Amino acid sequence: MASEPPPSLRTGSWFRSVVFYEIPVRSFFDSNGDGIGDLPGVTAKLDYLGRLGVGAIWLLPFYVSPWRDEGYDISDHYAIHPKLGTVDDFDRLVEEAHRRGIRVLGDYVANHVSTDHPWFQEARRDRSSPYRAWFLWSDTGTEFSRVRVIFRDEETSNWSWDEVAGQYYFHRFFASQADLNYDAPAVRAEMIRYARFWLGRGLDGFRCDAVPYLFKREGTRSQSLPEVHQFFREVRAMMDREFPGTVLVAEANQSVPETIPYFGEGREFQMVMHFPLMPNLFLALGEEDPRRIVHVLRATLPAPGGTSWAYFLRNHDEVTGEHLSEDEREMMLWLYGRDPRAVLNHGLRRRLAPMLDGDDDRVEMMTALLLGLPGAPYLYYGDEIGMGDRLDLPDRDGVRTPMQWSEGPTAGFSTASPDRLVRPIVSDPRFAPSVRSVAGEEGRDGSLLERVRALLSVRNERAETFSSPLYDALELPGSPVFGFVRPGPAEHILCLYNLSRSEVEVQARLPAWSAPHPTELLGHERRLTVTEGALRGRLPPYGFAWVGFPRVPDPPPP
Ligand code: GLC
Ligand code: CA
Repeated sequence: MASEPPPSLRTGSWFRSVVFYEIPVRSFFDSNGDGIGDLPGVTAKLDYLGRLGVGAIWLLPFYVSPWRDEGYDISDHYAIHPKLGTVDDFDRLVEEAHRRGIRVLGDYVANHVSTDHPWFQEARRDRSSPYRAWFLWSDTGTEFSRVRVIFRDEETSNWSWDEVAGQYYFHRFFASQADLNYDAPAVRAEMIRYARFWLGRGLDGFRCDAVPYLFKREGTRSQSLPEVHQFFREVRAMMDREFPGTVLVAEANQSVPETIPYFGEGREFQMVMHFPLMPNLFLALGEEDPRRIVHVLRATLPAPGGTSWAYFLRNHDEVTGEHLSEDEREMMLWLYGRDPRAVLNHGLRRRLAPMLDGDDDRVEMMTALLLGLPGAPYLYYGDEIGMGDRLDLPDRDGVRTPMQWSEGPTAGFSTASPDRLVRPIVSDPRFAPSVRSVAGEEGRDGSLLERVRALLSVRNERAETFSSPLYDALELPGSPVFGFVRPGPAEHILCLYNLSRSEVEVQARLPAWSAPHPTELLGHERRLTVTEGALRGRLPPYGFAWVGFPRVPDPPPP
């Protein structure tokens, strides 16, 4: 049975105060020994996620699919892939998550379907079928020539010839993913039905895939057209009416001016993934200079009333360089892409820990940065234990290897034999399960997992402050330290991050509000001292600090 979430889980702006965690179901935990992670596997690990401090999980597509693109190629929107479990397994996962106070987001893949989908199969066979109008066909494959090819390492055109149809069909991504025709009213109605179906089964919202591309118009780049915004306003209106408190998250990998409108003045997405910021975080770290972070945040904060940016360091795709300048892209490749196998499309297919040379201090600092920013932080599975990647696997598979639960040939992911796993386990000795695993790190003082858990615990305790949209950048001219204040109702939190490999002296005049008795919230108190109106101290290489100042009560009115 579909379950109603406990009402407390969906009140107000819950999405601004919790930490999200992204899970490719196939790679997380295999409950039945067939070598493939599944929904009961996620349920089995909810206690782990609860202990970590996660407040919401985002499940990658779990629908029926030939899996040519990690399930982003759906062939039945209304059924669970049999290898991942049953509808009962899904209901149980949602119910058990809710019981632990963890919300569940699904992935809403609206732009395209698998070419195996019965809709496409019927459309290509029968020109008189009503499904013919659900796709985009052409005799020449020359239309929409201004639309860029996204997977440029694998596809040369957005049109592919279909023998059966005797025409070209349009696809924004792989040729195995035919784009739907959103000018057909039946397509729009069907996609709203698909959203309603899973929300009705208890999902707390959707991360929406490839949002900008739904509508195509000749002579344009066919990105972020007004019709796209209109469609998602309709989806959102349905959700507000029928499933209050559920949320939409936009994957809109665009420039700053094209990304901001997805908040739609509070009537579209509650959260928008902050793609313009993500590569800049890595660049700033490599350059030991926070200015580019400050600039991007200045251009994008605050998110419009009631909404929130969604921040992430890494996800299941590449680190995108699409919206960087040529120079910036070169810099990113020079800093993080020395191994040519890491370069894919416009970016880098790497996990967090290997990008940062397996240095726990840097991983912890970048995670603390993510958690300190005004908005919703999204962690990528395995990054909390410093998991590595596999550059020998094709496409983005190398960042989607089985979660490392413990030592051993299958890393505790499955009881199947190692050669039957969905993907091979990380083999690089710096990141292999013998040195990087949940069992090896949980409860061990000073391990990355414990350090990340401590961060989440402070962030969750101080959710009231961290969920406020307020943020004031601190002026630290010429310093490699990125600093800002998060003003909250009961306290202000000062966040400082040393992006450099050297110990640095920090000196800052503190704003008028600063109370005389600050506390370092993470036990780093010896690093900083605060004297009347000024802060002084030293941050170690890649060190950081979160300093809490209780608010001075406002003076009584005269
Ligand atoms: C999104 C997904 C990516 C997928 C693509 C096509 O960008 O994040 O993994 O390949 O859409 O569905
Ligand atoms: Ca399985």
